Amino acid sequence: MLAAPLIERKRDGGALTPEEWSALVAAYTAGRVPDYQMAALLMAVVFRGLERHELAALTDAMLASGSRLAFEGWATPRVDKHSTGGVGDKVSLVLAPLVAACGVAVPMMSGRGLGHTGGTLDKLEAIPGFRTGLSLVEAKAQTVKIGCVMIGQTAEIAPADRRLYALRDVTGTVEAIPLIAASIMSKKLAEGLNALVLDVKRGSGAFLPALEQALGLAQTMIALGEDRGCPTVALLTAMDRPLGRACGNALETEEAILGLRGEGPPDLMAVTYALGVEMLLAAGIDQTSTKARQRLENALASGIAAEKFEQVIEAQGGNPHVVEDPSLLPQAGAVEVFCAPATGVVTAVEPRTIGRAIVAMGGGRVTVEDQIDPTVGCVITAKPGDKVLAGEPIASVFAKDAGGIELGFAALSKAIGIDADLGEQPLPLISHRVTKDGVEELPVSRDRRL
Ligand code: URA
Repeated sequence: MLAAPLIERKRDGGALTPEEWSALVAAYTAGRVPDYQMAALLMAVVFRGLERHELAALTDAMLASGSRLAFEGWATPRVDKHSTGGVGDKVSLVLAPLVAACGVAVPMMSGRGLGHTGGTLDKLEAIPGFRTGLSLVEAKAQTVKIGCVMIGQTAEIAPADRRLYALRDVTGTVEAIPLIAASIMSKKLAEGLNALVLDVKRGSGAFLPALEQALGLAQTMIALGEDRGCPTVALLTAMDRPLGRACGNALETEEAILGLRGEGPPDLMAVTYALGVEMLLAAGIDQTSTKARQRLENALASGIAAEKFEQVIEAQGGNPHVVEDPSLLPQAGAVEVFCAPATGVVTAVEPRTIGRAIVAMGGGRVTVEDQIDPTVGCVITAKPGDKVLAGEPIASVFAKDAGGIELGFAALSKAIGIDADLGEQPLPLISHRVTKDGVEELPVSRDRRL
């Protein structure tokens, strides 16, 4: 296939036809278009964008690159959620088993770390033995048997996104509404869902920080879903600070397990419950938010959500005992406590700086081939608005060695701002609900940490 003229056309602001997108994605997936040409085209899309018909064609071509999960004749509702990416965002690990424990099937297909953000697959693979590369047959059988599967793109399922996602990760081509929308929706539409809930991040640590961009992304994905018969709703949530306390793969898996055991940090649980409520409503399991919330809380308190996670881990080859004993997760070689350098109010915990440091410490990829170290990261207990005293412990760094600790300390010193007063207010944790009918601004919680 002759890719160069298509790259040049996009570079110069023109549009590709649906047939060209389809042929290009098929040729790239089959290895007949090299990464360097695709990277050049992706960069042209970052600068020039895609017309509506091009985005539809790209999404459909990515969807058509692999097979889809099909559940004909199976009455159990199937709903999934997807996040646009953040730092400390381990919601999927709590939410998927929690919602499955409430009677909704969750056939979840996720991604790896992307740019400065972490990925659900890397967090799951921190569990010894956990396999995310299931076949279509295995994924379907597990969904029907235990109501939840957590997989990644494979040669069989969403292969185009698998290659494009890895390429975008290392070529500076993540931050574009059409590329994020096509990536997410091509995966989700392959899952055979009845409905989809999106967690669209905004704030300095999101790929698209501004409110208008986040709303634009939400509306773009909702239109793609609705046009393809998948009712889709989105919540906008804050990513101007990490979600929860733990950042880094094994550390986040541990915090997600704590969440399933009823000991999760309040902001993580608030986002998890809000998305869970939307999933239960979309599945038709409950008719009101209050009832849905109650059902989720009961599933968590009774232990059936944690049990569901054990079942998922066991079914996918992992060690289910990590749920009871998270110390079975891989442990870092070096750990050091980070103390507040001054007395005052925490003004910022900058997620991008933290996310980039974790990549540099070995917890993310710099090139497509990189293997990651699941143990590295940090646990930050301070949140914007907290009062701290000089010398008070506010974080811990987990690293491979002393060099990693140094990287972590440098990042925390840069990321955590302390001043006489808060200054700019942090974003509300959950600010908007977006549906095909419009945008609703949600009431702001009075709890500063939420
Ligand atoms: N999540 C995805 O699956 N794809 C993106 O491009 C960004 C977040």
